[in-house]
Amino acid sequence: MLTISPNDTPQPLFHHYMLSSIAPRPIAFASTIDENGQPNLAPFSFFNAFGSNPPIVIFSPARSGREGTTKHSYNNVKKVPEAVINVVSYSMVQQASLASAEYPKDVNEFVKAGFTAIPSVKVRPFRVKESPVQIECKVLEVKEMGDKGGAANLIICEIALIHVSRDVLDSENKIDPNKIDLVGRMGGNWYCRASGANLFELAQPGRNLGIGIDALPERIKNSKILTGNDLGKLGNVTHLPTESELKDYKPNRKYDNEEDIYTEAKKLLDTGRSEDALKFLMANLLK
Ligand SMILES: Cc1cc2nc3c(=O)[nH]c(=O)nc-3n(C[C@H](O)[C@H](O)[C@H](O)COP(=O)(O)O)c2cc1C
Repeated sequence: MLTISPNDTPQPLFHHYMLSSIAPRPIAFASTIDENGQPNLAPFSFFNAFGSNPPIVIFSPARSGREGTTKHSYNNVKKVPEAVINVVSYSMVQQASLASAEYPKDVNEFVKAGFTAIPSVKVRPFRVKESPVQIECKVLEVKEMGDKGGAANLIICEIALIHVSRDVLDSENKIDPNKIDLVGRMGGNWYCRASGANLFELAQPGRNLGIGIDALPERIKNSKILTGNDLGKLGNVTHLPTESELKDYKPNRKYDNEEDIYTEAKKLLDTGRSEDALKFLMANLLK
């Protein structure tokens, strides 16, 4: 392993390792306003949700790595403690990136990047019409983490209202990940797109606890063919098959080599049949 300490690594390099590994990050396209009503719009991927009751989100316009100066978004919320966080879909990512350029304070990035500003209901900053989800926020607290270049400024917000475009909803009025087509920020110039083949579903551990990988038979646990993901699925089954269950699961053919048994088990795992996979493995390997 390459082991890196912030104490003896140049800040830009440390920044690289952090941002390339703590990823993908959601992007808050933050709309703020100054005390004179001048709008500002900028993307921030130091952003996440931290609880839903009360609903809390935090984003961080950090001090500029080069000059250590503060960003307009930070200056604005210090004066007018409100923001609208607009999510970023793939269809608007180029424009959102354009809005991140360091335009002077009197430049309105809504105009510069070609977005439509629409009034909010509970706060003064405008919403981005083109964004499928617009989150109106009151700023509860601003926490400065230092005064050097790269220092975080945590803008701690409580959500007042969320507007969701009907275009991204399914028949139950829930957000469809393929329709919202969000992008995430990686390190360097990299982004990722959360839709299509990039999405996958994963059965959450239920109320009945999974047996755990430690409870699997040694031979299965130490298989050279099953991956960590395969073992994770097997460890999520709620009980080891009983003798009678295994009897009901007699092998219907003889396998000449172990690899074929694992290959069959993987097929079951890939189609979500973890219990059957475990029964199959135990019936065929441990007989
Ligand atoms: C996708 C994306 C994510 C960004 N995330 C952050 C971030 O989390 N924190 C930050 O300080 N700057 C971030 N930036 C850079 C800011 O958007 C940029 O400094 C911008 O000029 C700040 O605007 P402002 O001075 O109007 O607030 C990001 C840029 C892009 C394109």
